[in-house]
Amino acid sequence: MIWTKDSLKLLVKEKLEDYLFIAVSHREPYLHHNDKGKIFCRRTTGGVVTALDSVMRACGGIWMAYASGSADFQVVSPEGFVQVPKDSSDAYLLKRIFLSKEEIEGYYLGYANSALWPLCHTAFKRPEFVQKHWEVYQSVNQKFAKEIISQIGDRKAFIWIQDYHFSLLPKYLREMAQSQIFIAQFWHIPWPSYETFRICPQKLELLQGLLSNDLLGFNIQYHCNNFFDVVNREVECKVNLETYSVMYGGHETHVRSYPVSIDFEEIQKTAGNPEQESKKNDLVEQFGLAGQKIVFGLDRIDYTKGIPERLLAIDRFFEKFPEFKEKVVFLQVGVVSRIHLKEYKMLNEELNILVEQINWRHSTGQWKPVVLVRRELSYQEVLSFCRLADICLVSSLHDGMNLVGKEFIAASRPDKGMLVLSQFTGAARELPDAILINPYDREQFSDGIFQALTMPESERRERMKRLQSVLSENNVYQWAGKVITEMLTIDYKKQGLSP
Ligand code: G6P
Repeated sequence: MIWTKDSLKLLVKEKLEDYLFIAVSHREPYLHHNDKGKIFCRRTTGGVVTALDSVMRACGGIWMAYASGSADFQVVSPEGFVQVPKDSSDAYLLKRIFLSKEEIEGYYLGYANSALWPLCHTAFKRPEFVQKHWEVYQSVNQKFAKEIISQIGDRKAFIWIQDYHFSLLPKYLREMAQSQIFIAQFWHIPWPSYETFRICPQKLELLQGLLSNDLLGFNIQYHCNNFFDVVNREVECKVNLETYSVMYGGHETHVRSYPVSIDFEEIQKTAGNPEQESKKNDLVEQFGLAGQKIVFGLDRIDYTKGIPERLLAIDRFFEKFPEFKEKVVFLQVGVVSRIHLKEYKMLNEELNILVEQINWRHSTGQWKPVVLVRRELSYQEVLSFCRLADICLVSSLHDGMNLVGKEFIAASRPDKGMLVLSQFTGAARELPDAILINPYDREQFSDGIFQALTMPESERRERMKRLQSVLSENNVYQWAGKVITEMLTIDYKKQGLSP
């Protein structure tokens, strides 16, 4: 069966009507900001938001998240609610949670992004465990728990938590809940091996938190296996590999893999419409790309994305294959992220230095091999860039999934497009027809770029067709549909009912 927006809607309508459906994430899907006295609304970036926004538009319910826009406060009701997307027929309720600077420093920049993010990504950045950050992380998790509980009252509820910002939330919710609640959590980033995880001073508390879920999801089976290995060694529990669950303190947590994805059909439709096509020409002009083959990268500027490795592979590519000079341009779009952290500031500096060096080394006359664009992109612009590019490079050193490569496959034109994809992304498991590379291996990576540029047209078309057919089935509605169906099955079982 192929899941669609409508089949997900139907499932929710038929089976979830007795439940209040609440999704929780750190990043809000839309923020409001002031610009020259006017209020604007913009969609935020990142895999969680890309996936969950499509799901919430199909399911409805409440999405609870941190208020990050300068005008967020001005547009919400006294209780903190706003309907998003505005004036859309499939709008849902966003409940904004306001956090102080101190809370953001301790919980988000601190424990979530200086301890858990590097710990889980194994990108050779040392995690920093600071007691104060941990305390604030706990208190912000408590704060979200109280907000959720106050929404539920004595109703039955399905709570779907997103990601590593909320490892403790399931446990706090269980302790506070008066009524019957079902808790699922999706861990969008990798789960590390035991060797890596065991250094974490708060490992027991984190595991106790996660083992309070009824259902815990990861992108790939490998991360589930790592999780089982870790709990087996760290806590007194019973791992059952037949039911794929962990029994801990009398509570059972089911652990499953579901590859997060995109709204394939919608992207393909929007990217292909003529109005969208015309925007492409503006970009060609704006960045002086006329007559060039375009190799494209689009990322949050994050040290896990392998952007310096990508630039070094481009450098090596022009060194080995100088006949491509003046014919190929590498366009890297970078969205500035977590910039208050030292590592992210340093990475931005490093990128400036590398781009300058590579351009100096290879440029001829007016032609420069690398264009670095550092700004936020609208959804339409992302699609235009995907449509424009001949090749997309995704070179994450480690990534739970990576939706950019998937978006590229969905949006690209039939007459062009090939994906060069890091073997260390979750997406690589589903997309073997991409050119898979090891971003740490400069020779192989630069050869991969060469292969993508010179592949016979018939082979390129065949591969892209297979990639598109995988994603038309493994779409975001399948992801959410499978999670929700599993939630229902487990919940019925808990209540002794048949589904
Ligand atoms: C990754 C994480 C998300 C996060 C996103 C953007 O995809 O898994 O939880 O929202 O990056 O990062 P940011 O820190 O800007 O929310």
